[in-house]
Amino acid sequence: PQSPTNQLIHLHQEATKLYHHILMNTEAGQPALDYLHERGLTDQTINDYGLGYASDQQLLKPFFEQRQIDYQTLRHSGLFIENQDGELRDRFVNRIMYPIRNESGQEIAFSGRLLAKLPDQPKYLNSPETELFNKRRVLFNFDQARGAVRKQGSLILFEGFMDVMSAHQSGVDNGVASMGTSLTEEQIYAIQRITKQVYVCYDGDTPGQKATQRALKILQDNSSLTLGVIQMPEGMDPDEYRRQYGEAKLADALATAKETPVAFMMRYLKTQYDVQSDTGRLNYLDDVIALLATVRSPVEQDVYLTQLATTFQLDKASLRQQLSMVRPPAP
Ligand code: UTP
Ligand code: MN
Ligand code: MN
Ligand code: MN
Ligand code: MN
Repeated sequence: PQSPTNQLIHLHQEATKLYHHILMNTEAGQPALDYLHERGLTDQTINDYGLGYASDQQLLKPFFEQRQIDYQTLRHSGLFIENQDGELRDRFVNRIMYPIRNESGQEIAFSGRLLAKLPDQPKYLNSPETELFNKRRVLFNFDQARGAVRKQGSLILFEGFMDVMSAHQSGVDNGVASMGTSLTEEQIYAIQRITKQVYVCYDGDTPGQKATQRALKILQDNSSLTLGVIQMPEGMDPDEYRRQYGEAKLADALATAKETPVAFMMRYLKTQYDVQSDTGRLNYLDDVIALLATVRSPVEQDVYLTQLATTFQLDKASLRQQLSMVRPPAP
């Protein structure tokens, strides 16, 4: 007999297969498959990630009941919603299903995406926390990325599922996703076990930029990882970049559009002030000088000072003097 944990993993494996079958081989799955094709995903990618479709029918409930899986196991799987009378219904209906796997590559949860916007419904619905699924520990694609991360010596951190898959389809396999939530210490710990270098490549929209700044801070405070940022054009996420410019260009951008955390922060802070006004500009410069005081390398400091002097037509010597007045942070 299986342990309860193995039984739950087995349920997720069976569910993954069933959802995938519905997507690939049935009439009910056709609109979802068309949708994924329209988004430029190949069948290869769809297979690599085991994507599926939960149609509007109850799928899992009859499937598992036929196999005489006991009620308590089903209840604890997170795959069902329980009503007041204790009756179970499939949690995921009318959603494209993304299996979420643990480090060993076992399916432990799902995220389901709506095909089209619906009022009062989240775009992505995730499995609840279960015995298998601890959100704080999981990074999407960590199991499949590990080899490439080790080989390339770096990991790329994306926001979303589609970004990871877009990178993969473009030949970039060292990507994982934090799934839209703030990074946790557990996730950072897992990353640190396999690499020393992380690039944050979040969405180029305002929430994405804000999240980048937050991720850099959390990573700096909780790790000794070397950090970089991969910058997407304003408003675009990596998946949209692939659709607009193609796979080769995305692979290019992921390899070359890199900047240091300080360079990112200089640009980010600039969006937080009205640098057209004197007060805004001075406040911005105060913030940037404080930031530059944390830079250990004099050469790197000089690069940023030159940039500042040029951008704002200021005397570099006075910027340097101002910098010398900021007490450097304790090492
Ligand atoms: P985004 O809103 O950037 O979505 O959220 P996306 O990844 O670009 O998705 P597409 O391209 O519209 O399909 C980033 C990530 O945040 C999580 C998901 O993991 C998503 O990939 N998220 C987002 C949720 O968990 N729930 C939501 O309702 C929205
Ligand atoms: Mn099609
Ligand atoms: Mn986003
Ligand atoms: Mn996005
Ligand atoms: Mn997207």
